[in-house]
Amino acid sequence: MTAILEVRRLCAAYGDFQALFNVDFEIAAGEIVALIGSNGAGKSTLLKAITGLMSPTAGTISFAGEATSRTPAHALVRKGLAMVPEGRRLFKGMTVEDNLRVCLDRARADVEPASRWTLSRLYDLLPVLKERRRELVERLSGGQQQMVAIGRALLAQPRLLLCDEISLGLAPKVVKEIYQKLPEIRASGTSIVIVEQDVSRARSSSDRLYCMLEGRVTLSGPSGEIAQEDISRAYFGAHS
Ligand SMILES: Nc1ncnc2c1ncn2[C@@H]1O[C@H](COP(=O)(O)OP(=O)(O)OP(=O)(O)O)[C@@H](O)[C@H]1O
Ligand SMILES: [Mg+2]
Repeated sequence: MTAILEVRRLCAAYGDFQALFNVDFEIAAGEIVALIGSNGAGKSTLLKAITGLMSPTAGTISFAGEATSRTPAHALVRKGLAMVPEGRRLFKGMTVEDNLRVCLDRARADVEPASRWTLSRLYDLLPVLKERRRELVERLSGGQQQMVAIGRALLAQPRLLLCDEISLGLAPKVVKEIYQKLPEIRASGTSIVIVEQDVSRARSSSDRLYCMLEGRVTLSGPSGEIAQEDISRAYFGAHS
């Protein structure tokens, strides 16, 4: 399979504080990849660098065959890179449907009609959004708001969808419901990265897994083949 995203020896910093050290990270077309790591490991920073929200200090990023480490975020969205950000960032005071429509005019253009996400296709995937489409987004439950955030990202017609801790603060039942949608999203031709605190969920929902610790990738491999003790060591460090 061809790589949709290739990150090589990526470094990034907040002022004097280096947050990423020589990160290698790769996603093949059609893959679901989980990114795990404890608080402050650098997961969100890696996603911010990939989506153009932060400039790397060294290393390269290539997305859909183009060098993109200096490409601004809005241009990357048009190339097919969408993120469901930490904390969702929906527009309060706007209806569910208006929140969803925000992305329609910034979407990737070169999508075949058969694989294009439309509002009606999205409502088939997430029927509760159809039921509540005329309500103000803040009146929805946390899980439903997360579905709005995912739906909005899908309407940008992504080749690659980056999801930053979509299960944070949600009831297990709702988390399960959301994760059950991932295979269908992948089947539409979208590769997916999930940042997830729940290691067993991350493993069971992904093809491959990366673990980060203190700004470095400490483990990567097929999710079904990695031993639990290797994950623990990569997650907590050698002294655990
Ligand atoms: N805006 C910022 N300014 C300065 N330091 C930051 C900033 N954002 C993150 N950091 C630091 O960079 C490191 C990596 O943070 P990051 O948010 O990428 O971690 P994370 O793996 O996403 O953690 P979490 O699971 O808590 O979301 C941490 O040490 C964090 O304190
Ligand atoms: Mg984070």
